Amino acid sequence: MGSIDKATIEQIREYSDIVEVIGSYFNLQRAGSGFKAHCPFHKEKTASFTVHPDRQTYHCFGCGTGGDVFKFIQQHEGVEFPDAVRILGQRAGISVVSSEEDRQTQPIYACLEEACQLFQDQLKGIALRYARSKRKLTDQTIRDFRVGYAADSWNFLLNHLSKNHTSEELMRAGLILESDSGGRLHYYDRFRNRLMFPIFNTTGKVLGFMGRTLEDNKSYAKYVNSPETSVFKKGRTLYSLRHAQRAIYDKNQVIIVEGTTDALQCHQHDLENALAPLGTAFTKDQRDLLIRRFPTAEYVFMFDGDAAGRQAAIRISGLMMGRGNSQVCLLPEGEDPDSILRTGRDLMGFLESRIPMTSFYIDALTQDNHLDISTPEGSLTLLQLLKSPISDAPVESHGVLIDFISQKLNLNPESVKRKVLDERIEIMGSRVMWREGDRESFEYKFIRQLISDGKPETIIYLCKERQAQEILTGLESKHILAYLEQRARTSPRQLAQDLNSVRDPLFKDKICSRIVNSIAIQAFQQGITLDKQRLEHLLTSPLWETEQRQRNYNQRRFFNEKDKRKARQEIRRSVRPTLEEIEETFRQIKFQKTKSRLYILDPKVVKDPRTEDALDQLNLDLDEIEEGEEDVHKK
Ligand code: CTP
Ligand code: MN
Repeated sequence: MGSIDKATIEQIREYSDIVEVIGSYFNLQRAGSGFKAHCPFHKEKTASFTVHPDRQTYHCFGCGTGGDVFKFIQQHEGVEFPDAVRILGQRAGISVVSSEEDRQTQPIYACLEEACQLFQDQLKGIALRYARSKRKLTDQTIRDFRVGYAADSWNFLLNHLSKNHTSEELMRAGLILESDSGGRLHYYDRFRNRLMFPIFNTTGKVLGFMGRTLEDNKSYAKYVNSPETSVFKKGRTLYSLRHAQRAIYDKNQVIIVEGTTDALQCHQHDLENALAPLGTAFTKDQRDLLIRRFPTAEYVFMFDGDAAGRQAAIRISGLMMGRGNSQVCLLPEGEDPDSILRTGRDLMGFLESRIPMTSFYIDALTQDNHLDISTPEGSLTLLQLLKSPISDAPVESHGVLIDFISQKLNLNPESVKRKVLDERIEIMGSRVMWREGDRESFEYKFIRQLISDGKPETIIYLCKERQAQEILTGLESKHILAYLEQRARTSPRQLAQDLNSVRDPLFKDKICSRIVNSIAIQAFQQGITLDKQRLEHLLTSPLWETEQRQRNYNQRRFFNEKDKRKARQEIRRSVRPTLEEIEETFRQIKFQKTKSRLYILDPKVVKDPRTEDALDQLNLDLDEIEEGEEDVHKK
């Protein structure tokens, strides 16, 4: 893919107003001179995602993400820069010098679009009556989803589209089929006498079609769908995602139904966050695509209550294990959302009776295998069955899953963990097995590694997978304490530096105090009283040298403001902001509302977990900071 020239990029930027672009994905609320929303990229209670029209940037005070309009598309669509430029280019009607691949696919998109229009024009008479009265589709839905009709003919589409396209192109678009009659190739329409549901990508391009027969007898396939083409990959596309994405952001909930018409009826009944796979079972790719876009959303899967629906629910439960907040909703046997809504019944009641997927999964496994989980054999078998889906779940979800399972089965989490995770532990991506006997020295090494390497993965692993408490038992903890204390005595700066290189806020927030607690408890049991605060300080504080500087600063008398500023800057450069600094920053904002922009924009301050505390203490919230900032701009 060739590079895109600068002028084009700038032109596209010019035509892509960030408020309009982001606003097309989810609602933005006006706030001062800008806009705000709940951040789509992390879970939060207050809206700290801000969009600045004057600077044409966005920024989230919660997770620190931000950038320009291209960066937003990259992040949101999960694409690289050139594709982000293309997407916005298409939106703005500016063509980006096309790569070889584009030259190949462009005519295919053109065929599909033309076919879509043709089908739309044909939706009249019997077909329109079928759509309206049998399927209960409103004219609004028919328009929005561009529902159409493929004529009852072998060559209607072929004849119309051959004016602008070659048969080869129509073949590659999946619109026609070829047959060999007596050595002569001949072509005919794939879709005949069918209600046509186009499938769109998220920018609205037609990728293919699903065609439903109007006749409910068994002599025709109920659905005929586009084949896989260079632009249409079934397993990686979702029906109605384009129409649903905005509602998904707003509700932070995704409803996944089985069929095309289910999705359409949902959209007609205020469930605009509904999607369906495309005539195939829900795939891993579809799962990943959704989770990447909507990482914090709730996922509700609706299934027909028959055996097949239940089987599908079980399979998807395994697939969703540990990913997102997933729920199952089994409908009465023989019903689907379409049949319920179409006949004027209420789907909400079913939606409200949804149950957590993991819970459903455990119950289903128990039932299907006739297990009595009140017996040790029963629960052991169940744990064996859970092993593989859990090891496929993301590592950071293991802790929660194990807690959940042990609670549900009323078992000790430690033993559940041992059975399910098979004593397998991973450090830095390499798999290490241990035997019972090796445990002590291994854990010691592990902690040493933790301290010297300080990689967030290691620490997260340590604290989520195997609780600090568990590892720091008996002898090891003595070693660790000895190690820490010795390092603290001989090379304090090095130790502080090691520990400080851990930039993961998770470490600072939770994990650190857990480690400190464990160490302190262990030490206490051995008759040593440790100063927990000091220990925590040791684990998280800025370099000691800086601390020294801070102390000097506090003691010094400054002759003029300039020296004072310089000294403060020096400290700031070498260290994360101190709580006092943060507080002072906000005090300045509140009372002076001048010159404070620099501070606000300093990502160090914004990202620091203590910022929120500081704000709380000052009874300030992010809105007011916005105000402060705005005033600065106005001056
Ligand atoms: N499907 C398909 N090919 C088939 C049958 C079904 O591609 N031969 C897909 C369609 O997308 C359909 C989905 O699988 O929407 C679910 O199938 P099913 O429940 O059988 O169909 P319904 O959605 O109930 O179809 P309808 O309401 O139109 O009868
Ligand atoms: Mn149906």
